Amino acid sequence: MTSLVRAAVLGHPVAHSKSPLIHNHWIKKYGLEGTYEALDVEPGNFVQQIRFLAAQGYKGFSLTLPHKTAALAVCDEFDDIARAVGAVNTVTVRDGRLCGANTDVFGFLENIRTAQAGFDFKAGPAVVLGAGGAARAVIHGLLQEGVPEVRLLNRTRANAETLKSQSTDPAKISVIDWAQRGKALAGAALLANTTALGMTGQEELRLDLDFLPATALVNDIVYAPLYTDLLRSAQARGNPVVTGIGMLLHQARPAFKSWFGVMPDVDAALERIVTS
Ligand SMILES: NC(=O)c1ccc[n+]([C@@H]2O[C@H](COP(=O)([O-])OP(=O)(O)OC[C@H]3O[C@@H](n4cnc5c(N)ncnc54)[C@H](OP(=O)(O)O)[C@@H]3O)[C@@H](O)[C@H]2O)c1
Repeated sequence: MTSLVRAAVLGHPVAHSKSPLIHNHWIKKYGLEGTYEALDVEPGNFVQQIRFLAAQGYKGFSLTLPHKTAALAVCDEFDDIARAVGAVNTVTVRDGRLCGANTDVFGFLENIRTAQAGFDFKAGPAVVLGAGGAARAVIHGLLQEGVPEVRLLNRTRANAETLKSQSTDPAKISVIDWAQRGKALAGAALLANTTALGMTGQEELRLDLDFLPATALVNDIVYAPLYTDLLRSAQARGNPVVTGIGMLLHQARPAFKSWFGVMPDVDAALERIVTS
């Protein structure tokens, strides 16, 4: 007899999360005995709740805002990437211990690898807009893949300087003023937007693409809308583009594997479910 595996996404708010759609699609697809719920957990209750749920027999948790950094204080152990990035998006309960991992790095890289199979991360400088939690994962992934230079631009320059100083290879990161974001695109092989700009309900990202080489790959990790103004403008001038939805789908795969024991696929049916 197989036992029921229970997992959940913890966030505040959490109702918007697409994680239940993703994991429940896979539970059904692979015929597993499991449940995956969305649980709204307020920041003040996070430590107590995650411990309580683990004691109730939950096998794992996805963490979304605002819990990704709070988990650093509650997990009993971490994988190397969570420690390096300074954020946990996946927790697995092993023998009562909370084991924190970060799968956003895998999600970011795997999205680009599958959407643009020939892309060479070593081909040239990467321009990264934003210095929040997601930027930490993106930059860690870029450095891991051997990108020669990261040009980092953020509205609040001090946050970019902090990210640089805490990264695994600060010498490869040049912090550039946000006002210079048009010129910073000259000679770039990759442009990644990791700011919240362009997301439904947020301001648009205002960026002049004139200096961007036509061969540069443009990735927006914002996935609602699927095609942001940045991606539309880049596509219109002939640049290859990668949407952000694949990062969300691929980051969920190692989490699912660690709870349910199966490394799931990203299939067309799942893409339709999360984008419709
Ligand atoms: N595809 C995926 O799987 C995935 C995964 C994670 C996140 N995301 C998306 O990535 C975005 C950022 O997430 P996050 O977790 O990094 O958030 P975060 O930690 O709150 O960081 C937000 C970033 O956006 C910048 N920003 C916000 N408002 C701005 C404005 N009006 N003008 C210029 N910059 C502004 C912030 O700059 P300051 O430092 O100046 O405040 C900061 O760099 C969100 O849209 C999120 O949905 C996608």
